[in-house]
Amino acid sequence: MEERLQKILARAGIASRRAAEELIRQGKVTVDGRVVTDMGVRVDPARQRIEYGGRPVAGAEEKVYVLLNKPTGYLSTLADPQGRKIVTDLLAGVAARVFPVGRLDYDTEGALLLTNDGELAQRILHPRFEVNKTYVATVRGNPPQAALAQLEKGIMLEGSRTWPARIRVLAAGERQTRLEITIHEGRKRQVRKMFAAIGHRVLALQRIAYGRLRLGDLPLGKYRFLTKNDLNLIFSGKNSLYRG
Ligand code: URA
Repeated sequence: MEERLQKILARAGIASRRAAEELIRQGKVTVDGRVVTDMGVRVDPARQRIEYGGRPVAGAEEKVYVLLNKPTGYLSTLADPQGRKIVTDLLAGVAARVFPVGRLDYDTEGALLLTNDGELAQRILHPRFEVNKTYVATVRGNPPQAALAQLEKGIMLEGSRTWPARIRVLAAGERQTRLEITIHEGRKRQVRKMFAAIGHRVLALQRIAYGRLRLGDLPLGKYRFLTKNDLNLIFSGKNSLYRG
């Protein structure tokens, strides 16, 4: 059966669908020995030979799910031309070619899921599926309730409104305040930009959960393989962020 090339690559665990499109655009994918950069191309994986980076794409690769407690100072990418440390440096013992599901900033630590399951990555990343991501942010100063309520309702950020968020103050102080914030979007540096928008710079940021899957006591820099049960926790009990 013919399918779109990016869909096949995602299912084979090469990358999320969006990232697979980028790989195609970059000319890294061949079909029957010919580079394909056209996004509309449909291919039959049962009859045609698909290769990525010179290696055959095996659709049946076992799916692997890893939860890493990412330290700051690591990039959530698979390579860095500048030679900085990358998250997969921390995955000795994971043989599968996993990729990060979304990103955590270089200076953010905490829960980072890595997998070779492109479909699952898509479900977690797309705001339509409303997978909550929870962070603990330490911000400068003590944001007033009214400003936090604004963030919860949604604010204009770079031309579009943020989706509702939930915020809980964990420890308030004059110089700095720790808060827990739950959002289900994944815009670039979103939490930092949201607090900056109300005038409170983020000093430290940690992701502590995807849905109900929590980082728990996983040590910094360590990972564990996830079970089916863990995966269910990501999607269970949507915990809708909408009020009323
Ligand atoms: N929001 C941020 O600002 N940074 C992250 O790494 C994740 C969410």
